Amino acid sequence: MPRYTEMTTGQLREELARLQNAFEEKAAEGLKLDMSRGKPSLEQLDLSNGMLDVLDSSHTSYIAENGIDVRNYGCLEGIPEARRLFADILGIEADEVFICGNSSLNMMYDTVSRGMLFGFPGGEKPWGQQQKIRFLCPAPGYDRHFAICEVFGIQMITVPMTAEGPDMNLVESWVNNDETVKGIWCVPQYSNPGGITYSDETVRRFANLKPAAGDFRIFWDNAYCVHHVTETPDHLLNLMDECKKVGTEDMVIMFTSTSKISFSGAGVAAIGCSRRNMEALKKVIPMQIISFDKLNQIRHVRFFKDVEGIHEHMEKHRELLYPRFQMVLDTFERELGDMYVPELRHSRANETGVHWTHPNGGYFISVDTMDGCAARTVELCKQAGVTLTGAGATFPYGKDPHDRNIRIAPSYPSLEELQKASDIFCLCVKLATVEKLLKP
Ligand SMILES: Cc1ncc(COP(=O)(O)O)c(C=O)c1O
Repeated sequence: MPRYTEMTTGQLREELARLQNAFEEKAAEGLKLDMSRGKPSLEQLDLSNGMLDVLDSSHTSYIAENGIDVRNYGCLEGIPEARRLFADILGIEADEVFICGNSSLNMMYDTVSRGMLFGFPGGEKPWGQQQKIRFLCPAPGYDRHFAICEVFGIQMITVPMTAEGPDMNLVESWVNNDETVKGIWCVPQYSNPGGITYSDETVRRFANLKPAAGDFRIFWDNAYCVHHVTETPDHLLNLMDECKKVGTEDMVIMFTSTSKISFSGAGVAAIGCSRRNMEALKKVIPMQIISFDKLNQIRHVRFFKDVEGIHEHMEKHRELLYPRFQMVLDTFERELGDMYVPELRHSRANETGVHWTHPNGGYFISVDTMDGCAARTVELCKQAGVTLTGAGATFPYGKDPHDRNIRIAPSYPSLEELQKASDIFCLCVKLATVEKLLKP
């Protein structure tokens, strides 16, 4: 079959009729499938059930290695063994780790909120008292990062993603020259949704930024740092090490959590930052809370033991995730393989085909449809019973300038559901494409 872009109008009309029939049949099945949010499956959650029995009522269960009783107040920045565990996950020192509650997103929100109210070391006044403040937003990116900016009225500047991470020429030119730029959102390993791991060169360029604003911060959201899907994991250069070489470590705030290691919404989250930033945190956090949940911290340490234990556990996640990702990718190849122009496959300038990612980790596959077809594809999927993340969600202000990016989350549905949902998705991509090509 010729590619859609090479078909005559007559051929396209025939294809439209065929696709519409197939669509109506699918829609009549009344399916209810969801590929919208990156949630672990039930089997993945079950992997950590042992954590629920790891403590008992004996004295040794709830005494941390520094002698503190984890059932009581105290040790605000986290018990030492948990700080060590997160330090090893993030590749930093234990005294650069602040263990917080159960959500890294919550910590990111709080960090921005503190910037607005109190400011950061290096700034003359709080962000909220400065005339205009802006964040760089590599896109496609994580919708909730952008939502934080929106809620605080922080102006967002879209920075395109490349195969090596954000476009660093643009990042440098903004950060180094414009003092209204106060932050940048980064998911440096297996980015959400593109699955991109920043190259060594990109990480070094981040470490060597020379911000015009003394209170500029890199929000390094390493949510997927141990979340490999294939047997050929990506390697991320350690930003803190690179920053220390050039004395820029105050510029970085790292975040991570066990939301997709143990339990989503009941895991442990941590901030990683320089000792100077840590001192600033120690002054403000006690106004908010007397103690985070140290029972959960000790439960996690006793269950995983050390970072090796985390890697072993993540291998079990990988075994569950890999077939799901592969099923979606195989379906895309089979159903949409003809539609893209292979030489343009890795090009963002592709306006005539469909492109999708083959990530080595993380939780998402990112699809670029032909320009102008993403919103229609999502709408058609909805009519056929498949919920997807809203089109545009992966861009600041929910507006994809090309209306082409769709985020697919294959982790939660069963393999059977995923096959059905992927088939419907491909059908809807084709239908939206043919409709678009037939538009005068
Ligand atoms: C990039 C990224 N950061 C943070 C989160 C949320 O993490 P947490 O559950 O720790 O708040 C997610 C969840 O999807 C994510 O994709």
